[in-house]
Amino acid sequence: MEIISTIAELRARLSGESAIAFVPTMGNLHEGHLNLMRLARKHGNCVVASIFVNPLQFGPAEDFDKYPRTLEADCVKLQGLADVVFAPAVNEMYPMRQTVFVEPPPIANELCGASRPGHFRGMATVVLKLLNIVQPQVALFGKKDYQQLHIIRQMVVQLNLPVRIIGGETVRAADGLALSSRNQYLSAEERGKAVFLYQILQQAQQAILQGERDFERLEKQAVETLQANGWMVDYVAVRNQSDLQPAGHVQGNPAQHGLVILAAARLGNTRLLDNVEVCFD
Ligand code: PAJ
Repeated sequence: MEIISTIAELRARLSGESAIAFVPTMGNLHEGHLNLMRLARKHGNCVVASIFVNPLQFGPAEDFDKYPRTLEADCVKLQGLADVVFAPAVNEMYPMRQTVFVEPPPIANELCGASRPGHFRGMATVVLKLLNIVQPQVALFGKKDYQQLHIIRQMVVQLNLPVRIIGGETVRAADGLALSSRNQYLSAEERGKAVFLYQILQQAQQAILQGERDFERLEKQAVETLQANGWMVDYVAVRNQSDLQPAGHVQGNPAQHGLVILAAARLGNTRLLDNVEVCFD
């Protein structure tokens, strides 16, 4: 496995590769990331991972400075899974002040975008830069960040990028909590409570499968239950899988469309994100 930190060296190493599968990350790798690497192997014969904590997607009051940077341990975990690790410094990715950005679709201002202005613009911009640098045939992203995956798919389709996007299933801890680099910010007591978010989403999923169609009531109930248990809720939202628009606005019978229930909520200072799909078949 080669660890490369400059764009020029990376381009030289990858020239001639014809089946590159790419997994962009911000490092501090866990099983969620590693599972994407394994999936990548099925879609390419050269697996490239990037590790780059992208300043452009963090707000001024967010955790850019304290985001865990664990490059050495990450490279150990990637042995045998990735062929090339691209780990550039901030100056390599942004040698001048970035004044050109990807303008994401309007959905980027809703859900997580409502409390993180500019986040998806910074995310989409770095993902486009990375896709242009690596030029993979396939790129893989986790469904854990469902809105991010949706925005990337829209960018690839609407900007005609020659790459296939694949979504990997959410990897969870034994109790059901979605793995996330931010889970380590939780105190032991908070960690014990954290799975409640997933349980609430599963309850809402069951209710829909059993015929509940008043999605606003369902969202309100979920928010109130979380709040009553000490959570600060950003949102719980029942949306269409296809466009992330409110499920209630679907023409015809919503049971013909796949839905997804998305949530973001804070436990203490830690913001947790999760979602479950609702499939009718
Ligand atoms: P990061 O949070 O490091 O996540 C990298 C990839 O791993 C993303 O596609 C994310 O959805 C996926 N992932 C994280 N936790 C997961 C889990 N529990 N199960 C499955 N997949 C999981 O997302 C980013 O970095 C950045 O925004 C990035 C796309 C790299 C752009 O900077």
